[in-house]
Amino acid sequence: MVHQLLMPSQEIRTDRLLLTPLTPADIDDVHGVYSDARTWTHLPAGRHAVRASTVDLVQRKIGGRARHGLGSWAVRDATDHAFLGVGGVDMTAAGVWNLGYRLAPSAWGKGYATEIARAAVGAAHDVGPGAPITGRVLTSNPASAAALARAGLSLVWQGSTSAALPDGVERQVWADRALSRAQRAWLVANA
Ligand SMILES: CC(C)(COP(=O)(O)OP(=O)(O)OC[C@H]1O[C@@H](n2cnc3c(N)ncnc32)[C@H](O)[C@@H]1OP(=O)(O)O)[C@@H](O)C(=O)NCCC(=O)NCCS
Repeated sequence: MVHQLLMPSQEIRTDRLLLTPLTPADIDDVHGVYSDARTWTHLPAGRHAVRASTVDLVQRKIGGRARHGLGSWAVRDATDHAFLGVGGVDMTAAGVWNLGYRLAPSAWGKGYATEIARAAVGAAHDVGPGAPITGRVLTSNPASAAALARAGLSLVWQGSTSAALPDGVERQVWADRALSRAQRAWLVANA
């Protein structure tokens, strides 16, 4: 799109990561992570069994960035540019940013999700400061919740919905500020 060509580079460098807007050229790398069952242990049904699911995901994220000025990034090692996964914020139908990440297992445990989350909070403040930054996680995924907490989000809701989960696992909603009743209701309904 012309207006995108006129925009300055949206590439971001953190201490260790290169964060770039997702493009169709990333689809095979993204599919490698999204089709890997190890990245879906908390939600096995979400695994991408076919490449078309990843094509759809990347297209939706590209569309979201075009509409809202920001979307999830392709995450690479800043030094050797090895693909590590996807992370960042996407605008939702509730008018709140959703912060999320899915990294290749070889990249876990190094603080990358925290680094992505902090960069995403900074970018969301620049692009859409009026929209709350939120995250949704399962209680069985403390690493994901810890990255949200490190980025300045707080737990605003925990509970169950009609969608089934393993025994003892609950859903959580995190946010960086007070939510409107409509935003909170949407997040809980879609937790
Ligand atoms: C969840 C995920 C993104 C975390 O990425 P990561 O780069 O390993 O996370 P970080 O290294 O930034 O760790 C975040 C925090 O969780 C802590 N942590 C890691 N594993 C943990 C565990 N099993 N229990 C409790 N805390 C844990 C880390 O110590 C770190 O806390 P600290 O900053 O206080 O040290 C990554 O494991 C992943 O991609 N998983 C598959 C996809 C997924 O679950 N995405 C989130 C869906 S909501």
